[in-house]
Amino acid sequence: MKRKRCLLILSFLFIISCVGSLKNDSDTLAGEEESIKKYAQAKGIYVGTAVRYTPLFHPAETNYKKLLTKEFNIIVAEDDMKFENLQTSENNFFFNYADRITAFAKSNGMKVRGHTLLWHNQSGFAANITDPTQASNVLSNHIFTVMRRYSNVVEYWDVVNEAIGSDTNLIGYPNSLRKSFWWTNLGEAYVEYAFQLARAAVPNAKLFYNEYGNEGVSRYKFRETINLVSNLKAKGLIDGLGLQMHLSTDRNYPFDDNFFLALEEYAKLGVEIHITELDIAIRLTNTNGIALTPEELEIEYEKQAQMYALTFATCLSNTNVKAILMWGFTDKYSWIPQYRINYGDALIFDKNYNKKKAYKAILEILKK
Ligand code: XIL
Repeated sequence: MKRKRCLLILSFLFIISCVGSLKNDSDTLAGEEESIKKYAQAKGIYVGTAVRYTPLFHPAETNYKKLLTKEFNIIVAEDDMKFENLQTSENNFFFNYADRITAFAKSNGMKVRGHTLLWHNQSGFAANITDPTQASNVLSNHIFTVMRRYSNVVEYWDVVNEAIGSDTNLIGYPNSLRKSFWWTNLGEAYVEYAFQLARAAVPNAKLFYNEYGNEGVSRYKFRETINLVSNLKAKGLIDGLGLQMHLSTDRNYPFDDNFFLALEEYAKLGVEIHITELDIAIRLTNTNGIALTPEELEIEYEKQAQMYALTFATCLSNTNVKAILMWGFTDKYSWIPQYRINYGDALIFDKNYNKKKAYKAILEILKK
């Protein structure tokens, strides 16, 4: 009788513990809290996000920091390390925000991507330079000062961002280069020049070229990216290629093999590949400008989840892809609503920091 009761108690305890572990299933990974970074690590890939200074250090935004450290192992400053924010006027630098962001990454064991040393946007006073010598000196001073300051924490640099123009008549690198103020001042060799400076500044930093519109073999900047990167690679000036990947659910890309084949071609160049700015925006209104109903929105979230999952799965199929970073992680802080009218909700946590379907879909892919 005693034994029977004992057995009964034991089986009761067993059931309780099963229910308990079932309930916790979504939050445990070998006894630890589950996160995308842990599964990504097991696959040999870094997973990260762009960060903003204000929510990161704002005392009222505890969820931002909490989720960031829990889920990601690589970060990039969304704006705080761009030219205009670091060099506010000639040879006057503002490092406070970048210092705090990079120190935060370091103390939390996170890798850092530096974005970006040379771009045609957010370049402050440099955009008004018309004297080639001054342009050359300013660029050199910027690259040396910034890269050396962060040489012990920033492992990867987007040395040049978006240099390929969108004028599809101008094909054939370097003819295809964007005719920005850098080009006007320094000529078509400016891309190479920036990489030379970066190599000299911090020889062991990994130097990247970062671009959009090239995330598929049929995308308009694909061929030009191949040309630009192989030219730099032949000269030993580049280590990696960044693909921005600002997508949206109303374009079927990357549901065909476009992306997969592009990764294969880029890998053949012998460079590391990072997905640098992934987000998948949703058009929040229908063609009549009326807001989507909750049911319609759910369909979009499902599609978004599938696209995130497919992007991750395709990346995992190519061993040259070493990192995937999203351009933010909560819909509360995303560049999309300001830059793409009627679009939004592009990230994997909602405005209240709840996991969206996209988060869960990514986790499933990383667990496989
Ligand atoms: C965007 C930021 O998200 C915004 O906050 C800022 O106002 C403008 O720039 N490609 C890039 C990023 O390389 O630097 C851009 O970031 C988005 C497009």
